[in-house]
Amino acid sequence: MKGNPLSGKSAFIIGGTGGIGKEIALLLAGSGVRITLHGGSSQERLAKTVNAIRDQGGEADGFLSRIDGADAVDRLFSEYSVRAARSASISRGERLIHAEPYVPDILIYAYGPFKRVVLNETSAADWLFLTQQNLSLPGYAVSRVLPSMMKRKWGRIVLFGGTNTDTVRGFLTTAAYAAAKTGLGVLAKSVAKTAGGAGVTCNVICPGLTDTDYADDAVRAYNRSKSPAGKALSPKMVALTALYVLANRSINGAIIPVDEGAVV
Ligand SMILES: NC(=O)c1ccc[n+]([C@@H]2O[C@H](COP(=O)([O-])OP(=O)(O)OC[C@H]3O[C@@H](n4cnc5c(N)ncnc54)[C@H](OP(=O)(O)O)[C@@H]3O)[C@@H](O)[C@H]2O)c1
Repeated sequence: MKGNPLSGKSAFIIGGTGGIGKEIALLLAGSGVRITLHGGSSQERLAKTVNAIRDQGGEADGFLSRIDGADAVDRLFSEYSVRAARSASISRGERLIHAEPYVPDILIYAYGPFKRVVLNETSAADWLFLTQQNLSLPGYAVSRVLPSMMKRKWGRIVLFGGTNTDTVRGFLTTAAYAAAKTGLGVLAKSVAKTAGGAGVTCNVICPGLTDTDYADDAVRAYNRSKSPAGKALSPKMVALTALYVLANRSINGAIIPVDEGAVV
């Protein structure tokens, strides 16, 4: 894959076994990227996605780990590093030497749980959960990969905002989720400032209402009702934008709505 800036790179996709993350994994693998998938609890979804990538001639493995507390991201990167070290030493025919932790060239932080609750009924637990999962932990993951990416003078990070969180707005039923997702823009712009000169990019994609494999009939009907075109987005449309962003180092610190102009 000559001329493809992503070919031969490694990617770690947090929440890559289903939904938008899975579509990105399939497209990246098709661009010659070695994929490590992370999923929450479904062994079936993990196996299906790994097999789909291998069937199309790509390289993939993956593991499951629930993201349920402050040390969850450290656990993910430890597991990633052990796997990457193992496959690097196998491909070079070396003994397993574990000097420095392995960090991926490309980090996609896709997992981002959502809860619909009005502001005056949002509990402390809701606030802590939604901001931890959608801002603090993605933020820490970025801080964790940044030193290696900067040293290597190449790195790509894609984060996911919420629908309409591309700028500061008010939300009637998703204030905590949307506040956290809007904050990701500050994170991406801070990466661009800190590490853009060292070849690292970080961008936020804000999908519209997307019919993923997790959407039930009620969600699909709601998605349709809010879509200007009367049909929800496909995860592949969102993933294609991610691929474009990853392949272009001039796009850095951007917050990109992919929502066909939907307003929620
Ligand atoms: N879908 C939409 O309409 C929409 C709209 C706007 C923004 N977004 C944002 O876009 C991103 C992707 O959304 P998505 O709907 O495709 O998927 P998602 O539900 O955020 O993520 C699915 C992935 O996360 C894993 N996962 C689920 N629960 C987990 C847990 N407790 N711990 C660790 N991993 C877990 C899943 O694995 P298992 O299958 O094994 O559970 C799967 O790999 C999110 O950040 C979301 O907030 C989505």
